[in-house]
Amino acid sequence: MRTVYVNGEYLPETEAKVSIFDRAFLMADGVYEVTSVLGGKLIDFDGHARRLARSLAELDMKAPCTEDELLAIHRELVARNEITDGLVYLQVTRGSAGDRDFAFPDPETTEPTLVLFTQNKPGLADNPAAKAGIKVISIEDIRWGRRDIKTVQLLYPSMAKMAAKKAGCDDAWFVEDGKVTEGSSNNAYIVKGGKIITRELSTDILHGITRAAVLRCAKEAQMEVEERSFSIDEAKEADEAFVTSASSFVMPVVEVDGAKVGTGTPGPVAARLREIYLEESLKAAV
Ligand code: PDD
Repeated sequence: MRTVYVNGEYLPETEAKVSIFDRAFLMADGVYEVTSVLGGKLIDFDGHARRLARSLAELDMKAPCTEDELLAIHRELVARNEITDGLVYLQVTRGSAGDRDFAFPDPETTEPTLVLFTQNKPGLADNPAAKAGIKVISIEDIRWGRRDIKTVQLLYPSMAKMAAKKAGCDDAWFVEDGKVTEGSSNNAYIVKGGKIITRELSTDILHGITRAAVLRCAKEAQMEVEERSFSIDEAKEADEAFVTSASSFVMPVVEVDGAKVGTGTPGPVAARLREIYLEESLKAAV
C-alpha cells in the first residue's frame, strides 16, 4: 500500500480523494511532472520544478506551494515509500469550484489541487531495453499547439502508444509537416556522421529536462550537436537514433517504421550519452 500526497496530507492510496468537479477530471485542466529517483535521490529536481512553474504561469494557474515545499514533499514520499529506484509523479490542477463551467474559477476562492505519488521501479537505470533498443512507428501529430506546456491532455499520446503496440513496436514518433516533432512521451534524436541532431525548442515540443541535460553532457564531451528538425526518411538513413525522458534516460531506437537504423543495434553515441548522463545526474541528484 503506497502513501500518497493530496493537498497537504499524506494518506494511504485507498483513502486519497479528489472532487468529481476537479477541473483536471472534467477539462484536463492540469499540468504534471515526472521526476526519476535513483539510489533514493531525485534526478534533475530543479529542472522539473522550474518547468512546472513555467507550465503554471503559461496557463495562469496558481502555484500550490513553493519549490522548497515541493522538494520536501518529494523527499518525504520517497522516504515513506522506501523508493530506491523509481518515479515521483506530480500533478497540479486548477482545482474544483464545485460545478462544471468552461470559465476558469476565481483563483482567490478556488485553490489548486496538488497530488503526488511514487512508482517503484527497481533497477530503473538497468532497463534491458537500453541494451536491446526500441522500435518506433511514425504517426501524424494532431496534438494541440502548446506542446511546450506539460498538460495532462494525454489521450492522443496514449492512442499513439496503442498504435505502436498494435504494430508490434514500443513507441511512436509524431510527425508534422513531414518532420518529426517528438516521441509520444520523450524527445527524439538521430545521429549522422557523429553529429547529434534533435528538433529545436519551440511550442511544437516539450522542452525536455533530460534533453537539456543530455545536450549539455554532449557539448562537454566535445560531441557535435545540431538543433533542427529531421524527417522519418532521414531517421531511416541515420547511423543511430535515440529518445530521452525522465523515465527512460537515453534510450536507443533501432527501428523506425520497419527499417533498421544503422546496424539495427544500439549505437555507440547513444550508449556513451546514456553513461555520461547517468553519471553526471547521479552526482547532482538531491
Ligand atoms: N514524459 N516529450 C513529451 C511529449 C513528454 O511527455 C516527455 C516526458 C518528454 C521528455 O521530457 P523530460 O526529459 O523532461 O522527461 C518529451 C514523461 C516522462 C511522462 O509523460 O511520463
